[in-house]
Amino acid sequence: MSDRLPKSLNKRSRATIVMLARRKGEHISCEDIFEIGTTAMADTKEFETERGQGGETHQRVPSTGPQSAETYLTTNQGIPVSDNQNSLKSGSRGPTLLEDFVLREKIFHFDHERIPERIVHARGSAAHGYFELTESLSDVTSADLFQRPGDKVPVFVRFSTVAGGAGSVDTPRDVRGFAVKFYTQQGNWDLVGNNIPVFFIQDAIKFPDLIHSVKMEADRAYPQAGSAHGTFWDFASLLPETTHMLMWAMSDRAIPRSLRMMQGFGIHTFRFVNKDGKSTFVKFHWKPKLGVQSTVWDEALKLQAADNDYHRRDLWEAIASGNFPEWELGVQLFDDEFASKLPYDVLDATKIIPEEVLPLKIVGRLVLDRNPDNFFAETEQVAYCPANIVPGIDFTNDPLLQGRLFSYLDTQKSRLGTANFHQLPINAPKCPMHNFQRDGMMQMTVPKGRANYEPNSLSMAGEEGGPRECPATGFRSFERASGEHEQGDKLRVRAELFADHYSQARLFWKSQTESEQAHIASSFVFELSKVEFDHVPPRVIANLMNVDKDLATRVADGLGIDLPKANPAAKDPIDLEPSPALSIQKNMVETIEGRKIGILIADGTDAKALAKLKDAIIKSGATPFVVAPKVGKATLSDGKTVKADGQLAGSPSQLFDAVAIVLSKEGTEMLLREAAAIQWVMDAFGHLKAIGHTDEAQPLLQKAGVEPDDGVAGLGDDFLAAAAKRFWDREAKIRLLA
Ligand code: HEM
Repeated sequence: MSDRLPKSLNKRSRATIVMLARRKGEHISCEDIFEIGTTAMADTKEFETERGQGGETHQRVPSTGPQSAETYLTTNQGIPVSDNQNSLKSGSRGPTLLEDFVLREKIFHFDHERIPERIVHARGSAAHGYFELTESLSDVTSADLFQRPGDKVPVFVRFSTVAGGAGSVDTPRDVRGFAVKFYTQQGNWDLVGNNIPVFFIQDAIKFPDLIHSVKMEADRAYPQAGSAHGTFWDFASLLPETTHMLMWAMSDRAIPRSLRMMQGFGIHTFRFVNKDGKSTFVKFHWKPKLGVQSTVWDEALKLQAADNDYHRRDLWEAIASGNFPEWELGVQLFDDEFASKLPYDVLDATKIIPEEVLPLKIVGRLVLDRNPDNFFAETEQVAYCPANIVPGIDFTNDPLLQGRLFSYLDTQKSRLGTANFHQLPINAPKCPMHNFQRDGMMQMTVPKGRANYEPNSLSMAGEEGGPRECPATGFRSFERASGEHEQGDKLRVRAELFADHYSQARLFWKSQTESEQAHIASSFVFELSKVEFDHVPPRVIANLMNVDKDLATRVADGLGIDLPKANPAAKDPIDLEPSPALSIQKNMVETIEGRKIGILIADGTDAKALAKLKDAIIKSGATPFVVAPKVGKATLSDGKTVKADGQLAGSPSQLFDAVAIVLSKEGTEMLLREAAAIQWVMDAFGHLKAIGHTDEAQPLLQKAGVEPDDGVAGLGDDFLAAAAKRFWDREAKIRLLA
């Protein structure tokens, strides 16, 4: 019998099978044994595979060969485990014994694997990388990372949505977090920003209300991860200060194509302080190398079904394939005098300083080149905090920023469970760290000696005395008040210029293309149509009347309600110069690089045409993704078979930036009867993407309602050129926008 077993089985497995057969006597046939043998896994250097009495798979440390300590499974106490498949029982069918510490420890640890998710920005994806300085800022800041061009600082960057829980989808309409931890030689600096340069509110005291209103509603616990519901718009409509941010949130900025294709902003005005103690105001901007790219709303909705992890997967795959996401760091630098002449307040987080008014100075680049090793240990446990700042950078009195300085450390104690979370590898500084803070839950370091207080004179007795303060290199807050009303009576008020809630919303609106304006108006209609309170939409539109009457009219029309009167403005809006830099479409980087091209094939597809197209796509820096009715194989024109990257029903065209339909006559005829194929083409057209195709595929295009335009091409260079764009002009033909 032993001779009949597969050769790949080791001696111990053979013996087990034979033993099993003997024990079971006539109940186990030779065929059964053979079956056990063939389904057993072959040995590797690391383990030998055996079947247990119940047929369960045991992967065991090999009885011969190299064995390092790491190959032995142990409990958390380091005790070697003999059996990781069966709990300890009294008899094979008897009760499980309480003394089974291996079982209890394993289940105990599993029971406590989850920690509270972040109260906001719970869903996120992150990566490691570096920041490289390209232009010295030593004249304005003493911060070490901004001194010497060419210097690199390690970073960990986490992108997130705001409203949804940790398990929510990647593509709702939402602001995206853009948090960067710089591990500098002077300690950690966290720039905790978003992909939109303004915020909903001006004062941190409103943050809990904002978040309560936007998260799932308190009684029904829906909707998750989206602002299209009653409580959010009720709140927002009562706070005219949200108007500017709402314009951004209703624009395509809030439905990004990829985390790699978003801008990032520090939002608040910060301060640089140089070695002479001179202060310069600074605003931080991240500019993606691939330009800003977004989806269209119908596509974003469908992406929620096509791939919950669309952004997470995209970031991971780009880094894994060596296409490292990259941004430039730009700074806007200005002084008190400049600030005092602006018609808005630089301490107000609902305002920008347009690039046309104050150009960006590009000073460095951010490159993400390594995926996390472990999602929980790194992405989940990372703790960003706007209060983590290094000498040479300082805060301003922005009342939103000031509240944030308290909130993050406080929430992280609750989320990570101990005051010692700074010791976790992802949070620990990569420069020396010494102080007299001691003990606490989960203390992971073992401080030596008695010096846990200061001043002390222990060194005079020959003992270690511990670290000391240094006025020359230590962090010093900028001492002087700058500008009017920065010091004075204790008041619960807002600064006068904060009262202008509409001028910059109007500036934003005027800076958009017609197509972008249509998207904004339509987003307002979509969101407000989900609000069940009849009294709320008119209030939102009354605010929009102060932004632009045309916008307000289009939203009211789209909802089918009367145009309300304008909400009396606390401060009359003024006309500011439009800022073309705020438009995505006017600044598109026309490149196929970093994009994903879907290629639809079926049996009979021309092998040469497919190979040529894939090659051209790869050479242009994009990624081809072959979709076929059967993922296992398609038989091409040359009789050879290819494996597809995805199956048609599971790989809809919203996953791609452009699509090519490489079908033969026979393949087309078959797919004319497949709704998923027709929808594939229809969606690519509806989402304004380039479509390349063989002549034979034309009937499928016709059935999908594709009309010829600049974006519909063959499979050559014309298609590759088209694949770098979206065809905004097409939209008017296929969608009734507001
Ligand atoms: C300009 C305005 C703001 C921006 C750009 C911003 C950005 C962010 C980002 C990017 C994160 C996620 C960090 C990560 O990836 O772990 C975050 C988390 C958080 N934010 Fe904000 N936020 C803003 C305002 C506020 C305000 C006003 C408060 C409270 C007063 C606040 C409280 C929090 C809290 C409690 C977390 C969770 C932190 C954690 O659990 O680690 N944020 N914020």
